[in-house]
Parts: sequence; structure tokens; C-alpha cells
Amino acid sequence: MIRYQEKTNIFQLDTLTTSYVMGIADGSYLGHIYYGKKLQPQDLGYLLRTQEHPQTPSKLPREKMSFLDSFPMEYSFSGTGDFRESCIDIRDIHGQSGLELLYRGHRIYHGKDGLQGLPAVWGEGCQTLEITLEDTCAGIRVRLSYSVFEDSDALIRSVKVENTGTEAVYLERVLSACLEMDDEEYEMLSLPGAWARERHIKRQPLLSGSFVTESVRGESSHQDHPFLAAVSHNCTQTCGDVYAMHFVYSGNFLAKAQRTQFDTLRMVMGIHPDRFCWKLEPGAAFQAPEAVLVYSDAGLGKMSRTLHDLYRNHLIRSSYKEKERPVLINNWEATYFDFDTEKLIAIAKESAALGIEMLVMDDGWFGHRDSDDSSLGDWVVYEKKLPGGLKYLVDEVNRLGMKFGIWFEPEMISPDSRLYEAHPDWAFHLKGRTPSRARDQLVLDLSRPEVVDYVYDSISRVLHSANIEYVKWDMNRALADIGSVALPPDQQGELSHRYMLAVYELQERLITEFPDLLLENCSSGGARFDPGMLYYSPQIWCSDDTDAVERLSIQEGTALVYPLSSMGAHISDCPNHITGRITPFETRSHVALAGSFGYELDITKIPEAERQMISGQVAMYHAYNDLVREGDYYRIASYQENHRFDAWAVASKDKGEVLVTYVQVLAEPNKRSRKIRLQGFDEDALYRLEGTEQVYSGEMLLYGGFLVEPMKGDFVSRLYHFVRM
Ligand code: DGJ
Repeated sequence: MIRYQEKTNIFQLDTLTTSYVMGIADGSYLGHIYYGKKLQPQDLGYLLRTQEHPQTPSKLPREKMSFLDSFPMEYSFSGTGDFRESCIDIRDIHGQSGLELLYRGHRIYHGKDGLQGLPAVWGEGCQTLEITLEDTCAGIRVRLSYSVFEDSDALIRSVKVENTGTEAVYLERVLSACLEMDDEEYEMLSLPGAWARERHIKRQPLLSGSFVTESVRGESSHQDHPFLAAVSHNCTQTCGDVYAMHFVYSGNFLAKAQRTQFDTLRMVMGIHPDRFCWKLEPGAAFQAPEAVLVYSDAGLGKMSRTLHDLYRNHLIRSSYKEKERPVLINNWEATYFDFDTEKLIAIAKESAALGIEMLVMDDGWFGHRDSDDSSLGDWVVYEKKLPGGLKYLVDEVNRLGMKFGIWFEPEMISPDSRLYEAHPDWAFHLKGRTPSRARDQLVLDLSRPEVVDYVYDSISRVLHSANIEYVKWDMNRALADIGSVALPPDQQGELSHRYMLAVYELQERLITEFPDLLLENCSSGGARFDPGMLYYSPQIWCSDDTDAVERLSIQEGTALVYPLSSMGAHISDCPNHITGRITPFETRSHVALAGSFGYELDITKIPEAERQMISGQVAMYHAYNDLVREGDYYRIASYQENHRFDAWAVASKDKGEVLVTYVQVLAEPNKRSRKIRLQGFDEDALYRLEGTEQVYSGEMLLYGGFLVEPMKGDFVSRLYHFVRM
């Protein structure tokens, strides 16, 4: 529900349990007043403190700068006296910059417009407020857009900038959201990581200065994540305040929290301004991506569930959105580049017999690719490996009753490829400089429509050549040497964003032409696991690290903000290829059950005892996937925090069943059973623990706790399924 009170000039946006309030000060300046627990509409304008020193510019023009430098700006601008973090910077043709954005008008409408060429939250039951700010001197109009859904606690923001002047201007910074807070000392929670260690939850105080999480790698990255939350000191899974921002974008981003001289906090998020510069001709507009804001008054758990529901109901679009995904087996860790039709069919035969439903052929099936040093861009079948072609292989796999999926890395080009021989200038490069290779590959200049068409046609041709029902879209290096022969010098700063727009366009074309395709995004593991990608693919490969213990932290961090159904999670062989760790086959399956479940091992070579467990694991996936995919997620214990054990629960929306997963990472001698307080239960109901005669009341489990039996051994796990009686 969105309201504007004309008398007080106050906007109030209500979600299910929160209110977001803005006001206009001095007739001109849009200020942020309140974000928190839902309030009755009332005059909160006093919170803008315009009566205190410094007074408003119209009353005290000689102190305008101190006003600008302390007012809680709803969308901050710079160069005219606000020295805090700015959301927007424009350079004009005289080389000068400086803005003052003043309120001009607003409109409130039902629904929510899509964002041209960008991923965006969508759906029914929604209202949007669009506020127009303007700087007539610079000839710049900014439209701030805010949407709220009837069924969600999230607030969706975006920004559009128009050049209303008569000369071109250069947009050097355009962030998507700004949030001012001033009532507490917050800690910053972010999700940094590395390859094979993606999205580990980190929390730290912000005593002074700034906290930054960012990517300038051309992808949302392994190293940082486009998520930032300010949390109160007392914040846990179940209590305390959380102010979260999540960016619906897959390229460079900046998320920054700045503690100011008056101990207020300004949080901003948007496209990273580093090397970004967009030329805006007169009359042209630039649409910045969306940011999702969530406030929770009940800790991180409520924030997670709000984001999960928003993404499941209003971001993911796939026909698999509400369907079980086929249990897949991927040959990457089974064979790496060393495979052929015969080997794949052998894997498929064994897999089909055990109930696995799809074979995914990973990297190495095209050009003359025997290792990672060639052929990207040459999307034609490598006949030496696949004699008889793709169709023969796919038909054979289908004949076994399995679906077939395939791997692509569409955005890249190998210097050793026919494509590079024909079009060396199709790779990003800086004039006169040999571009840096990574994994022996270069990045295609997707700012060029002919390159985008070539890439699309190559993929489409392969998909039409056989019954291919799944695509893994990989991207294995960061962007560097970003220069294009196709753009004039004053537009080279547009390349990183143009690249992202082209990736989105390619994926949009793909899912439009093949609406039933199951698309899984991937980026050297989980370097492009972000809300932008979720708009195109319902699942994303979480990490190349498939070790069950490492996955606990990776999946805990990922599930903090993403629904479990979006996390690609596979059971792989041991010793694990990355950590060398040996964990029980059962534990690997319990950990993978918390995601989009599959296998990544040579099923023809694993120990017989493990092979025999597979059909049971597949049955377990089918039994619990509806619950895991659609249920509410509760984090019970974190191995990252306690260094001994991990536990989470998924409860059906009606609390009729709850599945608890418990992993004992390190055995502790001479201990009794471990008591854990569970979450997700109806306190007034009785539940039977599946496989036993044991009956518990919801309140016993919630407040008294559940006793996990003492277990011997490291890395052992249990599943507990409670069903309401
Ligand atoms: C990186 C991915 O994360 C892996 O799963 C695999 O597909 C390789 N690339 C293939 O090159």
C-alpha cells in the first residue's frame, strides 16, 4: 500500500510488516524519514530535523552547504555540498560536474513496469511510486521508482536518469539505492569469498569511516557479493534488526556503508562507478538496475524467508519454477576433458538403472577441445570424441529414459579457435596491447550486435540439432582489457554494462525460443550467483567445491539470501577433488539435498556400496523436494560459528511437516546427546518423527529442544522428518 499525504508532503510505503517513509523538506529536498516496523500513517516529518541547525536553505541560505551535508537524502548527489557518498555524478561537456536534485512530482500506479533489457522483479498484486527529481541547471531528470507487493515484505527500487538538456552529458556514477539511518550502531554483514569458498557470512562493526563490498571484475564475483546488510548488535537468526540490500545485477557493483560525522549511516548500492561512464545524448535515458531492500525486526531468518519468497514468486520465471528438477549426473568431475560417446553412454546406463534422470555433458565436446586451451567460440561437435555426432549420443541417452543436457561457455573465445582466426577483433582488447589471457581464453566483445548474433545462432543451432533439455551456461574468467574497436572513445566506459546487457539479451532470447529448457547459470563455480541471473535461470551452480563440509558454509551463506531450490548441489567422489577430504556418501547426499540435487562422479567407478545407495538417495530427493523447494528455511546452527556442527530446517508453509538436517562435523568424545532448539514448528501441534513412534509437541521442539543422539565419527549426518499428526 502506498500513500501520499499532501498536507505533510509525506510518502509512506507499507509492506506486510514494514513501513518506508520519505518526506519533502523546504519544498524541494526529498529526505528519508523512516524504515522499520509497520506504522499507522502519521506526520513523521519532524524526523527530518529541519528545525535544528543547520536550517533549511530557504531560511538560511548562507548555511546551505551544512544543510546539504547533513540532510538524510533519499537519493544523494554530489558536487554542491553533500560530501558523503553520492549516488549520482554527471560530467557535462564543459568537463564540470555537480548536481542538486529537487523534487518535481510523483505518481502512484498499480503494477510495476519491467526494466528494458534488465532483470526485474515482476508479478501481480503490486503498487509503484515514481518520484521525479530534477536539476534544471544540469538538464537532468531522475525518476526514483519504488514497488511493494501485497504478499511480500520487500521493497524494490530502481532509478532512471534522463538528459533533458540540449547537450550530451556523461553519467559517471548512477547507483540504484540509498538508505539513511541514524538510530543505532550497526554491524555490517556481507558475503565475501573466493573460488571454491564462495559467499561466507562475515560480520563486523563499523566504528567509523566506510565499509565496502564491491566487484570490478565484470561479474558479481567469487570474491564479493552484491549484498550488504546493517544489523543491530543483538541480531541473531530470530531477533534483532536487519536492513538488507541486494542488487539485481550480475556485473560490477558497489555496496558501501558510510558512518558520518553525526554517527548516521548512509548505505548505497549500484553499478560500480569504476571505469563506468555512459554518454547520454539529449533526450536519452539510462535505466539503472533494481535493488531489493528488506527490513526485518525478527533477525536474519525473517530476512532470508522474505528474500526466498520474493525470488521464488516474483523473480524466477522458468517453467521449472514450481517443478522438481530432474536428478542429473554431470560428467565434469567424472572425466574432465577425457570422455567420448562410449564413456558417456556407460555413465548414462548405470545412472538410468539407479533412477538418475538426466545426463549433462560438460566442457570438452566441441571444436578440438582436449583441455581448456582451445576452441571456445567453435560450437561444433568434436567428432573425435563424439563419433556419430550429438544427435546419436542424445538419442541413445533418451533411449535409456534419461534427459540430456549440455555445457556452453558462450561469452568467451580461445585464441586457438577458428573464430579467433577469422575475427581476432571480436575479443575485448586495448589498442596496442596484447590482452591478458585467463584460463587461456579471451572475452568476446558482446557490445557488438554481430558478435551477439553469432553467439546466439551457435547455441540455437546446437539446441535444434538434438533433444537437449538443459543448458549449463558457464563463464570462466573475469573481464579485463575492456576495449572495443566498435565504440568511439567517449563511449568505451559503457562496455562493462553493455556486456551485461548483451548477456541478459542472449539468455532472454534463449529462454524465449526454448521455453521448456532448464537453464543453469555457472561461473567458474559460483562467481555469478546473483539475483540478476535468477531472472533467467531457476538454478545456479553454487561452487566448484563439492566437499560436503566446505559446502556447509557456502550453502549457509548462499541460503542466507537465495531459495534452496536455486542452489546447484552435487554429490561428488572422495577424496574430494578440491579439499582431498573423505566424507561419508550419506552426508554428501544430505548436504546436496538442500539444493538442486545431482551427481558429479564416475558412477561406473565408485565403490559398489556407494553405488547401491544411489537409488535410495534419488527416492529421498523425490520424497522431500517439494518441501525443500517450496518450504520456509530456518537456520538452526552454524558450523561457521561453532566449528563443530551445522543444522537447518525446512518447514512447509502450513507447518505440516518439517525436515531437519544435522551434520556433526567434528566428533566430540564423552558428550551426551546434543540439545538443539528447532524452528519452523506450529507450537500448538503434535508431530511424529518419521520412522519412529516418537511424538513431540511443536512447543517442546521450539522451546524445550530436540536431542540429537550422540554419534561417532567426523562428518556424519542425520535427517529428521517431522509430520504433524
Ligand atoms: C567451471 C564450472 O564451475 C565447472 O563445473 C565446469 O563446468 C568447468 N568450468 C568446465 O570448464
